[in-house]
Amino acid sequence: MMAFRASLRAAAAAHPAVARFYSQAAAVPTSSSSFITASQIQRDAALPNPDPAEDSASAALVREHAPFMVATYSRPPPVFVKGEGSYLYDIDNRKYLDFTAGIAVNSLGHCDPGISRLIAQQAKTLMHASNLYYNPWTGALSKLLIEKTLASGGMHDATSVFICNSGSEANEAGIKFARKVGKVLDPSGAKHEIVSFGNAFHGRTMGSLSATPNPKYQAPFSPMVPGFRVGELNDVAALPSLVTPATCSVIVEPIQGEGGVTPASDDFLLALAKRCREVGALLHYDEIQCGLSRTGSFWAHSRLPREAHPDILTTAKALGNGFPIGATIVNARVTENIKIGDHGTTFGGNPLACRLGHHIVERLADPALQAEVVRKGELFRRGFEGLREGYPALVREVRGRGLILGLQLSEDPGPIVKAARERGLLVITAGTNTLRFVPSLVMSDDEIREGLAILEEAIRVTRQ
Ligand SMILES: Cc1ncc(COP(=O)(O)O)c(C=O)c1O
Repeated sequence: MMAFRASLRAAAAAHPAVARFYSQAAAVPTSSSSFITASQIQRDAALPNPDPAEDSASAALVREHAPFMVATYSRPPPVFVKGEGSYLYDIDNRKYLDFTAGIAVNSLGHCDPGISRLIAQQAKTLMHASNLYYNPWTGALSKLLIEKTLASGGMHDATSVFICNSGSEANEAGIKFARKVGKVLDPSGAKHEIVSFGNAFHGRTMGSLSATPNPKYQAPFSPMVPGFRVGELNDVAALPSLVTPATCSVIVEPIQGEGGVTPASDDFLLALAKRCREVGALLHYDEIQCGLSRTGSFWAHSRLPREAHPDILTTAKALGNGFPIGATIVNARVTENIKIGDHGTTFGGNPLACRLGHHIVERLADPALQAEVVRKGELFRRGFEGLREGYPALVREVRGRGLILGLQLSEDPGPIVKAARERGLLVITAGTNTLRFVPSLVMSDDEIREGLAILEEAIRVTRQ
């Protein structure tokens, strides 16, 4: 262990960014009395990034802080202190290639210098003045989102945007808007049902959670908001009985992320849109994970014919590249029925988040970046096909588009995730036994190849 720590120090000296943070890490108290076994020393020596041990700075910090944090997440041991491009660094100076991008958030990489500069500039100019007043950036971001949406071939009748702070909030606004439209169309209140689909994930607020039919998330908080119905994704035949005159909206992810990287088929979305129009329901696409060029087009639905375009489109995650922001894009069917005072937010649309979002949208809407997303997606797919050939009993299916990809495994991916992390690669899971890949959209080919090689090794060692 001592030799390993010495080698870490050597690595720190060779890498200025790590060196800077090594000095920070050294300032964190550690418990030097922890007992380290010979087998642990052997194991750690054989791994480039062994999970931090009991006597590490990470473990000491977690021991100090965890008791004060509501335990809503189960986290692995590393404590991340720095991000740079496609890499994260932990407090014990380990370097990790990040195939997760903060769950599809850091699409332009970690701590992009342009973004960091812009935050600093706007933080010195105006951060918040409230929605009671105009500022230059809430409107500028709204206008840009509409322009880029129309230019992309998506949501052809998009007119206006409500800006908030997160994906759940963006969906919550969409759900409330739909309820309001339903009430205007049918003042009896009968047109209030909201339809979502099995394995969907729309958020954790009570409205968005009510559209997230996963017992693990819903059961502890029941009863859900009344009036939500659940159908099966891609089941066209069931639509007439599922979507009825009582439906005010249908919310669907064009590619389910959390649910296992499962695309809705084009035929299904076309049939769903048609059924929504027949009964006067709004169609709500949740592109919080799959949108903003992650599939290679600005929106995942951009390539669909206009008959399949939504009335409500929600986004968040990559819109701030790590800074909290969400947005609900709507057409006139919604705006005509929303009046001043119907909805609101204190922080949503603040000039700092919106100036940042404006810069990010400009960059993510670049057709050259989108073409690269498609090409890099193919690079991943070729790697995955190799894994499927090498491990046919394990790798069952490759799903997704562009840089939102899923590898369906036949077993719990947990040991592979850990083995990858201990070799310097971060990957996350989704659905049932699915490995999910949502890296930065600007990751280099070499980094992708490096990650795929680590993944292969992680799979190989977990077979032994
Ligand atoms: C498709 C989708 N919708 C909604 C959400 C909720 O977003 P947030 O966690 O920002 O509230 C997520 C988050 O993972 C998501 O993937």
